[in-house]
This record gives sequence, C-alpha cells and structure tokens, in this order.
Amino acid sequence: MHIFFRGVFFVLLFSSFVFTQHPDPVRGKNGMIVSASKIASEVGIQILKKGGNAIDAAVAVGFALAVTYPAAGNIGGGGFMVIHFNNGKSTSIDFREKAPMYSHEKMYLDSNGNFLPHLSQEGETSSGVPGSVAGLIYALEKYGTLPLREVIKPAIKLAEKGFILDYRLAQSINAFYSDFIKYPSSMKIFTKNGSKFEEGDRFIQKDLAKTLKLISKKGRDGFYKGEVADKIVNQMRNSGGLITYEDLENYKVVEREPIISTFKGYKVVTMGPPSGGGVILLQSLNLLENFEFNKDEWNSSSYIHKLVETFKYAYADRSKHLGDSDFYPVPLIELLNKDYAQRIFAQIGEYATPSSQISPTEFPKYDESQETTHYSVIDKFGNAVSVTTTINSAYGAKVVVDGAGFLLNNEMDDFSAKPGEPNQFGLTGSEANKIEPGKRMLSSMTPTIVLKDDKAVLILGSPGGSTIPTAVLQVVLNYLVFGMQVQAAVNSPRIHHQWLPDRIDFEDQAILYDVKENLIKKNHVIGEKRILGRVEAIAIENGIFYGATDPRGYGGAVGY
Ligand code: DON
Repeated sequence: MHIFFRGVFFVLLFSSFVFTQHPDPVRGKNGMIVSASKIASEVGIQILKKGGNAIDAAVAVGFALAVTYPAAGNIGGGGFMVIHFNNGKSTSIDFREKAPMYSHEKMYLDSNGNFLPHLSQEGETSSGVPGSVAGLIYALEKYGTLPLREVIKPAIKLAEKGFILDYRLAQSINAFYSDFIKYPSSMKIFTKNGSKFEEGDRFIQKDLAKTLKLISKKGRDGFYKGEVADKIVNQMRNSGGLITYEDLENYKVVEREPIISTFKGYKVVTMGPPSGGGVILLQSLNLLENFEFNKDEWNSSSYIHKLVETFKYAYADRSKHLGDSDFYPVPLIELLNKDYAQRIFAQIGEYATPSSQISPTEFPKYDESQETTHYSVIDKFGNAVSVTTTINSAYGAKVVVDGAGFLLNNEMDDFSAKPGEPNQFGLTGSEANKIEPGKRMLSSMTPTIVLKDDKAVLILGSPGGSTIPTAVLQVVLNYLVFGMQVQAAVNSPRIHHQWLPDRIDFEDQAILYDVKENLIKKNHVIGEKRILGRVEAIAIENGIFYGATDPRGYGGAVGY
C-alpha cells in the first residue's frame, strides 16, 4: 500500500473518532458550550473558566441569548432544562409558560366557534405567563455555585454596550421588519430609527440592560414584581392581553423527574410532560429498537419507511394523550412501555399505512400521572446540561414590553384552541391540551442527554416546533446506530412526518431520486422541502468534548 494511504488507513483504524467529509467538531477537554449564538457560548465558557459548573454556565448562556439571539433567546418566554449530574443522577426543570388565570377554553374562538389564529399567534393576547427568569434562577440557586450577579453580568454588558450584528442576525431581524413596525415598542428596539439594520451595526438594548440589572439586584422579584411587572401588566391592559400581577407573582417553576428509556445499551434522559417531545422521542426509540439496522441503509427508502411509520403512531398518540400532566392524566407509563412499542412494531408492514387508518391508541385505564433555541453544556466535572427555551415563533408575539426591552412570547398557540384545529405547526390536539387557567401548553421541545454507563455521551436538542423530536431522533440514530461523527450526525439531511398532515417533509438531499420512487411505490406521500430543526450537540468520547453547531443556523461551539 502507498505510504500515504497506509497512514490514512492507520488513522481511520486506530482513532476512536470517525473522520468524514464534514468539518471537524470543536474539541475541548475542560468544557464545551454549543448554542445558537457564538457570543453566548463564549459567555458560558468564561463562567466555566472562573470555576463555575455547567449549571452556572447554562444560566449565563440563557441570559446572554436573551440579548444576542432575540429571535428565540428570551426572558419573556419559557423552556425546559434537563441536567445529568456527575454523581449519576438526573433531573429536569420545567419553566414553561402558564395560561393566565383569566384565560378560558374558548378564548381564541369567535361567536360561531371559528378559530382566530391572529389572537393566539401574535400580540399580547398570545402570551402565556413567562417562566424563563424564574427557571434560570431556580436552577442557579439549587444547582449552581456562583451568585446571580456574576452569571448575569455578561448579558447586562452585552445589552448595555451592544455587540456587532453579523450578516445572519441582521438578516434575521430585518426579515420581521414589517411585524416590528406595527408596534412602536418593537420598532424602537428592532429597527434603526425606523430603517433596517445592516451587518456591522452595533446593536444596543438599553431597556433590556435595565431589566437585567433589576433581575441581578432583586432576583426573581426584579422581573415578577415592581417596575417590570408594572410594565407588563400596563401593556396587557392596553391591548386585550390577560396577564395580571397575580399571574406573575404566582408563576411557579416545577422540578420534575425526567423521563428515561433505554436504547441499544444506552440510556436516554429527556423532558416529560408538559413537553410531548421527549415522549415522542422515547416512544419512537422503543419502537425502532425492534428493527435491525444495516449500516448502509441510512436514508434509503427502507430506513425512511421505518422512521415515518414510527412517527405516525407516536404523533397520533400525542394528539389525544399529551398535555400538562398537572391537569390531565397523561398515560405516560403505557406510552413508554416496551411491550406497547412491540405491539405497534408488529403492525408496521412493507407499505405505508395511511394516517387516516391510524388513530391514537385507547388505553384501558390511565394511571393517574405521577406526575426555541437549544443549548448544550458540559463542564470538566462531568455535569451535563441540555436546555431548550422559546418564545414560540421567531421573535415570539413580535411585541416588546415597552420600556422593559424584551419580547413577549406567543406560546398560547401551543394549546389546542379547538379540538382538531391545527396550530401554526399543523399540530392538532384535544381535551388533554385544551386551555385552562394556570395550565402549561403542550410543547415539542426535547432537551436530551444520552448516557452510557450513567455518564453523558451525547447532549442535544433543537428548535423547530413539531419537527423537534424527529430532528433529535435522527441525530441520535446517526450518532449511535450509524456511527457518524457528531458534526456529520448534525449536518446530515433529515426527514419529518407528524401523522397529520400525512406526508413526508424533507430537507435538500434527504430523499434522492430512486429513494423517492421507492417511497411512492410503498404508498408514501412526499411533502415539502424545508429546513428541519437546528440541533446544537455535544458528544463526549474518551474524555474529550466534541461540540457541533448546526450549519442550518449561525451559532457557535466553544470549548477549552
Ligand atoms: O414548545 C414548543 O413546542 C414550541 N413553542 C417550540 C417553537 C419552536 O421550536 C419554534 N422554532 N422554530
């Protein structure tokens, strides 16, 4: 063999790391942060370098994203944090928004019972009670080691002094120009005195800096009481929004047992209700575990068929059974049961079953329940944190709280406003996810940590509404089953099916010509080409951290 090829052969054979045509992920030995904003990832690394742990860093990244990634980073929204500690234990923190106390089942219907999506999707009427500030502070106080003022300081500085807009961020803000100019409070922040931003502009957010300083000084009271609360409530009163002082004061973070299942020798730790994302991920893995995968099968018609048929059953169950488990008896044990997965597996044949012939499974008796942007963090102590947070749509309700400098969420659209009526992600729901005062709207967010021998080997999650669980699942399979290096696992094109509508959506290059032909022969319907998720992942191999940011976005992995 030629000496060069022998060298390559040697490297390929003896490296634990798999080289591909994809760029190398970012390497680190002491810590790694992957988020949708490189500036925010750098903030997290500075906190780790100061001796903070992964939770301190995650909280610092969360506040920094509220400044540097306004499309989804937030203090006006909510999210979920899954933590795996170096002692082998895991937990999850639910800081999802809640429906205001004056909300009611028919609030987005007209007198004839027609759904009014403009009320649930934009403006103050679409906002749930924000949970992010309470959630980040809860995590920090219980599991962090640094004081709040220290982890929030970088965010304050970024808001006050500003930062330089890169091409993609300027483009992202400008894409919503016509929305922002409808609201004077949004126009003040997200336009340059009425005109569009340009790459290279310094983006300063003085009002947001003031709000962050109040939070730094007074903790959660700096947001849920006093000046900021006054501003939120005033704005609601002037616009038909429902959030009151009591709603803000009564907002509660809930620490929950994460949901866990096994998959081919790994443990998968993820978020349970009120997110449905983790349930879909685990249900799908339980089912897919029954298939034999050939290493060469990736994105063949047989592989896509297996995924799609699996997703149809999982999303059908979601439509009936998933909602806030504090309000509705979610049959979690039944849904995650491996025998149940085998029963579904037995129904999957060679041809596509039309979604119209698949209905949510009826379970004989429910056990009373025991119960968008993603960032992944790991520290040198081996603590892993996986956070997905959202204001729902890009730039949420599109309206900034005047004088407080942050965007309100439009999370109320994640409820099922009317049985069978699709929301902005085409998801339908029923009783389990109807609007009720104080209830959390069902989410698809899927912050996940995969373990081997109780140690984190993969930390990941994604935005993308209903496409989140299927995006996360495909990256997990790419990495665990198909042996791709983590950057390749993240980059590779994905497909999506969510039961209704009955069609396979796909990314560029995901379904090649003959594969498409074969899928059609199996009676599948080929849907739309679109972007599916934006995964921010960390893989841990032999004590080295490999960070992979998704090229679909413009984030950054930073390690040291
Ligand atoms: O919680 C959810 O499932 C949605 N509100 C997430 C929205 C989202 O991912 C938007 N990002 N593309």
